[in-house]
Amino acid sequence: MQTIKMNNEIEIPILGFGTFQITDPQEAEEAVYQAIKAGYRHIDTAQSYLNEEAVGKGIKKSQIPRKDLFLTTKIWVENVSYEGVKRSFEESLERLGVDYVDMLLIHQPYNDVYGAWRGMEELQREGKARSIGISNFAVDRAVDLAEFNQTTPQINQIEINPFNQQVENIKALKEEGIVPEAWAPFAEGKNNIFKNEVLLAIGKKYQKSVAQIISRWLIEQEVVVLAKSVKPERMAENLAVFDFSLTAEDKEAIAGLNEGESQFFSHADPAMIKWMASRKIDL
Ligand SMILES: NC(=O)c1ccc[n+]([C@@H]2O[C@H](COP(=O)([O-])OP(=O)(O)OC[C@H]3O[C@@H](n4cnc5c(N)ncnc54)[C@H](OP(=O)(O)O)[C@@H]3O)[C@@H](O)[C@H]2O)c1
Repeated sequence: MQTIKMNNEIEIPILGFGTFQITDPQEAEEAVYQAIKAGYRHIDTAQSYLNEEAVGKGIKKSQIPRKDLFLTTKIWVENVSYEGVKRSFEESLERLGVDYVDMLLIHQPYNDVYGAWRGMEELQREGKARSIGISNFAVDRAVDLAEFNQTTPQINQIEINPFNQQVENIKALKEEGIVPEAWAPFAEGKNNIFKNEVLLAIGKKYQKSVAQIISRWLIEQEVVVLAKSVKPERMAENLAVFDFSLTAEDKEAIAGLNEGESQFFSHADPAMIKWMASRKIDL
């Protein structure tokens, strides 16, 4: 698997398996087991997905050596403080059944992110979180965090897809030494993305699906891709993206699809921030 070297010299597999919205424990365990069987070596979960235990069971069932797997989890908003990180991270490790994670992220840019970051820097020094990063941080907040702390985040996991291409943000993150990672690369199917004529036409040239064209487009930008599917045939399809390349013309056509805004919601919307602040996960 192709990798990207992060600012701490650790390599992250460029394509990962997402587990958002796979909440049924049996389904989540099976999905992770099947994904590893299909060849994924990078799994993305979060405290708020309520599936860390099932993800851990899927990993265990696969019998994959721990060192061969890149595992990410994320600290939920209510735990974003120095103490909250320290306590809830230990609980995450326990649920996952591992003694370290490869990547630990602040899931949302709210609450005491500076306190949380100091806790995460300590976890990184202790080897319990090999890499640390952020998610859903606007680029100014990401640069601010990087400039005023010892550790520059290794990753910023943000929404990136053909309708929300984040061109300037990707550039600015890279300039700061932060690797961009794409969530919802397929926009979760919104806006009829799998039937999009531009993407279908490009796919036809290479006998590739819309999902494969999108992943390839991100990989060629050196953006880490997280693809989620509970269907083994789609897991395999989404991995088969290393045997073709897009032309400048293809990329220009995809650039034309950019609507320049989220397909979901704005992280600057006060109502959304209030909702996230009120969401308590009782684990
Ligand atoms: N940090 C954050 O705030 C954040 C937010 C959202 C997501 N994430 C992470 O990013 C990962 C990916 O994002 P996402 O799950 O939201 O959305 P996504 O990967 O863009 O889309 C997943 C949807 O696409 C379908 N799909 C997948 N492959 C397909 C294919 N080849 N053909 C047709 N349909 C296909 C899946 O259906 P089936 O499962 O039925 O195949 C599912 O409905 C998440 O799982 C999570 O790990 C992070």
